[in-house]
Amino acid sequence: MIKKVFPSSFLKGTLSPPPDKSISQRAAIFSLLHEGISVIKNYSQAQDPQSALECVEALGAEVTRDSNSISVKGTGRTGIKAPKDDLDCGNSGTAMRLLAGVIVGSGKQVRMCGDASLTSRTMTRIIDPLEKMGAHILARNSAYAPLMISRNEKLKPIDFELPIPSAQLKSCILLAGLFGETPTRVIEAIPSRDHTERLLQLKVEESNGEKIIYSSLDDEIPNQSYTVPGDFSAAAFWLVAGCIIPDSEIRLEGTGLNPTRNALLGILQEMGANITIENERMEGAEPVGDIIVKSSDLRAINIPQNIIPNCIDELPILAVAMSFAEGISVISGAEELRHKETDRIMAISEMLKGAGVSFEEREDGLEIHGNPEFKFGSATFKSFHDHRIAMASAVLSLKGKSESKILDAECAAVSYPGFWEDLEGISKNE
Ligand code: S3P
Repeated sequence: MIKKVFPSSFLKGTLSPPPDKSISQRAAIFSLLHEGISVIKNYSQAQDPQSALECVEALGAEVTRDSNSISVKGTGRTGIKAPKDDLDCGNSGTAMRLLAGVIVGSGKQVRMCGDASLTSRTMTRIIDPLEKMGAHILARNSAYAPLMISRNEKLKPIDFELPIPSAQLKSCILLAGLFGETPTRVIEAIPSRDHTERLLQLKVEESNGEKIIYSSLDDEIPNQSYTVPGDFSAAAFWLVAGCIIPDSEIRLEGTGLNPTRNALLGILQEMGANITIENERMEGAEPVGDIIVKSSDLRAINIPQNIIPNCIDELPILAVAMSFAEGISVISGAEELRHKETDRIMAISEMLKGAGVSFEEREDGLEIHGNPEFKFGSATFKSFHDHRIAMASAVLSLKGKSESKILDAECAAVSYPGFWEDLEGISKNE
């Protein structure tokens, strides 16, 4: 699908961002592990969480879908079934990596597969530690899905220092650890998103600036009944759009504010963004609030490497904000971006090139020469079938002089099925 995006003279309106993708998928997977019924309100309709839900069903959970909620009758740790067919994770790295941990723990033999993007992303990061735990994993070229997973020996709990700050890797090992007779310990030096430890209420210790998270058979799996908050990573597109389009005001209701996810808020505020938060509250284990963004004059910024994991998914749209900020902004230490749904450093570079933004690509990030007065005529942007690149390109298109085109725009539905309707709803022209 090719989507045309027209320039907008101002943006105005109230939106509820779609339900959080990371939390939805965890809620489904943890409900499988809970023996009993969990009710998850506001479960995401986006493609990744729907893939995770289908996988959970294939592993033995009974899922009932209602209009705004799902109920999941879990199998518990002992009742997980080996599905007859391949477990298809679609585009979802979270589903593949977290469920690989569950499957190793269960000791079942399962073949996991995914779409073209997912099967070109390295799985070595989970294969190595899972094999240390006793798993046997056959992977294409020793690194890529399809993965044939089995375990013929007893599960061996491990002490695992995260070699990269990845919440998917952390969660994978902790989930396998839940099946061990003695604790598995995951040691994290740089904080990554903490939904797994929050939702499973795992034991956490802090020592010498490091976080140690424990999981074992002794951990009871809490019932997963709660409301999923709005996705901060989806709200991020509107936060930047509201800043860079003059005379705008957007209210984002019920948005997740987990501090391990929302570094973009502080970054934009430091850049001079006019952002306020109202109605801060807890929804289940997660903080939530309403965010109000108004047009702002942005200044350039250098992003410190240690907060990259806390804004990793927001870097494509942050690059758009930096294009309109006064001065030279730098993103470095973000090599991980090359291993996302697509090589996102390459994809961001292509997006900026398409609009004529002045920038330099680096191996581990970007240097962007911003200009608040920057305008471009129109452009045709490739999404590379990556939802976040499609949506970042759409926000950039609002600054064109005439209509731009986004190719393969349907991929936005991987995390944000209503994105194009929401964009139309808040775009105003006089
Ligand atoms: C996610 C973790 C991040 C993020 C991804 C979702 C999760 O990936 O980029 O979109 O749900 O745990 P990594 O853990 O690979 O950094």
